[in-house]
Amino acid sequence: MLKLPPVIAIDGPSASGKGTVAALVAERLGFHYLDSGALYRLTALAALRTGVQLDDEAALADLVLQLDARFESSEIYLNGCCVTDELRTESCGETASKVAVFPAVRAALLARQHAFRRWPGLVADGRDMGSVVFPDAVLKIFLTATVNERAERRYKQLMGKGFGANLANLLMELQDRDARDASRAVAPLKQEHDAILLDTTQISVNDAVDFVLKNFKLAMDIQVNY
Ligand code: DC
Repeated sequence: MLKLPPVIAIDGPSASGKGTVAALVAERLGFHYLDSGALYRLTALAALRTGVQLDDEAALADLVLQLDARFESSEIYLNGCCVTDELRTESCGETASKVAVFPAVRAALLARQHAFRRWPGLVADGRDMGSVVFPDAVLKIFLTATVNERAERRYKQLMGKGFGANLANLLMELQDRDARDASRAVAPLKQEHDAILLDTTQISVNDAVDFVLKNFKLAMDIQVNY
């Protein structure tokens, strides 16, 4: 018997499609969904709006504690205003990656992330879901794709939304962000020894979702039988 709601942790690099897969898995299982990157993006946006310096660790951590954020279906609100589109921009992701290097910021965001763990279960995506935030997750997936494939997906996504984009710039930005996220001292992006690798370079979103669901069922069967 599980004492706490089960968690599926899906970690991986930017633009790997982990958000899309995680949200669909959550929908199929009727589970809650945590987009932890959105919390780092909200912190970045709040810092830009309030003029907090991006290298002031203590002030950024304070900002997290006061963050008035609300997740409502697929929209995200900061201080009561919808900021979903603003959060998804490349510049916001870039700033999020910068504030995410600070241990005090990460520590301040922990309680907020834990609050998403409610019955019947949670699908959480990010960089450190399986390693730090939910180390007892029943299933840990490391979802990735080649950097070229990720840049192309992001390019198509931006063009589809009517935003201008440059493939070469996107590729460079993703490489920079991967390097920063993977080299930071605290909770770096990496595949944990107990995470299952899911490379989506050559597979569809539906196949990726089915892969996670199949492995979740196996993991739950093991929990029940032992
Ligand atoms: O997943 P994303 O691209 O929305 O995340 C934006 C940035 O936030 C990412 O570059 C690094 C940081 N992040 C993190 O450090 N830990 C997480 N669990 C999620 C995101």
